[in-house]
Amino acid sequence: MKSTAATKQTLIRKLEELHQIPTIPAVLAPLLRYLQQPVEQLNVHKVTDMIAQDKSLAVQCLQMANSPLFGRWQKVESLRGAVVSLGFQRVSDIAMSCGVLNMMPREGGMDPVAFWEHSLGCALVCRHFARKISFGDPGKAYLAGLLHDLGIIVNLWVLPKEFQAAFELAKAEAIPLHEAEERVLGFTHCESGKLLAERWDLSPELADVVALHHSPQAAGDHSGIVALVALSDLLCRMSGLNYGFFEARQVNLLEETGFAVLSRYCPSLGTFDWARLTFELDSYMDEVHSLVRAIYRT
Ligand SMILES: [Fe+2]
Ligand SMILES: [Fe+2]
Repeated sequence: MKSTAATKQTLIRKLEELHQIPTIPAVLAPLLRYLQQPVEQLNVHKVTDMIAQDKSLAVQCLQMANSPLFGRWQKVESLRGAVVSLGFQRVSDIAMSCGVLNMMPREGGMDPVAFWEHSLGCALVCRHFARKISFGDPGKAYLAGLLHDLGIIVNLWVLPKEFQAAFELAKAEAIPLHEAEERVLGFTHCESGKLLAERWDLSPELADVVALHHSPQAAGDHSGIVALVALSDLLCRMSGLNYGFFEARQVNLLEETGFAVLSRYCPSLGTFDWARLTFELDSYMDEVHSLVRAIYRT
């Protein structure tokens, strides 16, 4: 295998050459740009029309809209119906989820179903956690959780063999993926995700989540949301919403850097009921598994 420094150079060169990640749904980039505007400027018809341009995306969105995870109370048959019954924010979350997760190569080192489950699970945990501790906008927290591991998709596209070796090492030694990437590639999905975040012109807040979710202490202005994602990611990795393997270590959330950082924003975190959050997470894990498996078959 090449030296890690050479691998990093290769990544940067390949990313620079890559004008568009091959399977990115055409609708995703404009949709993402559109959804980053203030919510009062968004037009429901415009968003549903954008999603409807991609037939398979529209079908997946409807499947998700009909899951209890998104608060469905009656069966929805159309995207417009989904907007009416679930609200604009939820439908946007759903469209983004399918759009981004469809970029995951179907073949490669990591099981795409596990990646979907981890990303979607992390998005849901972030939203739930943000609500519980009254932290910022739960919709933003969802998007941050969904996108946090964007760099894994980049690594799978541009350096599939090298990434596979890193993934195998993480699995064999039961260590965090970013530590294995550092050893094999000389960089992590945080760095490659940052390059894509810049390419996509993501908001500085989202770009920081993508780049710093494994080192929340390094985040400046956006350290609150970065820490929220870091803790949610950890909760998922320690549960059945991991990347397909368990890391061999005992985690005490109260000793995590993310906890100290988030406590600065939410002083009540010291008395937060973690056992209850873990219990609630367990209750929707099965829903995440069955939803992702159903979507993945379409
Ligand atoms: Fe990560
Ligand atoms: Fe993650």
